[in-house]
Amino acid sequence: MASDRVITVLGIETSCDETAAAVVRSSGEVLSDVIESQVMAHAPYGGIVPELASRDHLRNVRPVIEAALERAGVPLDRLDGVAVTARPGLAGALHVGAQTALGLAFARQLPIVGVDHLIGHLCAAFLQYPEHPMEPPELPFLALLVSGGHTALYRVDELSAAGIRELGATRDDAAGEAYDKVGKLLGLGYPGGPVIDRLAHEGDATRFELPRPMSRRDSLEFSFSGLKTNIARYVEEHGRPAERGLLCDLCAAFQARVVETLVRKSVVALEREQLRTWVIGGGVAANKGLRAAAQAAANARGVRLVVPIPRACTDNAAMIALSGSRRLLAGEDHGLTLEVSPHTELPRTTRKGRGLRG
Ligand code: KG4
Ligand code: ZN
Repeated sequence: MASDRVITVLGIETSCDETAAAVVRSSGEVLSDVIESQVMAHAPYGGIVPELASRDHLRNVRPVIEAALERAGVPLDRLDGVAVTARPGLAGALHVGAQTALGLAFARQLPIVGVDHLIGHLCAAFLQYPEHPMEPPELPFLALLVSGGHTALYRVDELSAAGIRELGATRDDAAGEAYDKVGKLLGLGYPGGPVIDRLAHEGDATRFELPRPMSRRDSLEFSFSGLKTNIARYVEEHGRPAERGLLCDLCAAFQARVVETLVRKSVVALEREQLRTWVIGGGVAANKGLRAAAQAAANARGVRLVVPIPRACTDNAAMIALSGSRRLLAGEDHGLTLEVSPHTELPRTTRKGRGLRG
């Protein structure tokens, strides 16, 4: 993120079920990073209830921002700008963050920019937490984005919509969505990802023979719904595994297939695009199995792998602040034009359920 001028930015994230605020310098330095998760509010419903999300964001957004400013030791009048997630996400949830950010920017006469959440996830690899200094990735790089709503491979030449090209994406479920659906099928609660990750470590992945999703060697598209259907069929036939060992084995088999697919397609993309740097972002990048398998694959090929610390993989506002700081440094101000949208600004090549666009 090259620029001589360093600015201090407040980031606000309310696109889904985390209310988050952070103060970050455009150099990547994280001064504070506050995340209030709504997981407990949605858990009884087995997924996110949009109305509940908006209500909780409204309740939490002010205390979360106050905590971020206080922990950073940066009062409002020392901020250089505000960055807020403007897309993609739940419309009502996005509006809460956008309105709050607009109000602050108006009151303090600060520039404000709307940030694409997916570009935010890719920027997480550049964050510098004081307790985890990291060498940032060099452009161009391959990005594997694996979140609850999106799963795609991108060639990243520049950290802006114009500099990011989708190489392939999922035709159906996102990787995180598959984890959450399988978690629900197995009675593990919401979100399923972290629990399945933990149980998978105790299990034997070879006990169940699950299909390889989208195994065509040269395709960079993903499909996880078949894998989920297989687990659903197992549960229909045998019921939920009552014995812990069996449950761990099933989780291990599912996780092994997901991880293997993500790593295999990333390697094909690295080779095809002749890239030497690989970045992974999004909630599923917190997965221990994926982190280990990706590191092994990167080492075997002399590729540099950069994966943010787990806290920066799942939704946070530090990545939004950093992504926005680049636009603010370029002089952008969306004060009168800020709009929210459920859709990403990144051009898509894979259509859900349809495969590659012509
Ligand atoms: O990026 P994120 O926080 O929110 C979205 O933008 O979607 O990703 C949330 C997703 C959820 O589906 C969750 O189950 C998954 O990330 N996740 C994990 C792990 N931690 C979170 N999946 C697998 N293993 C994990 N350790
Ligand atoms: Zn996300």
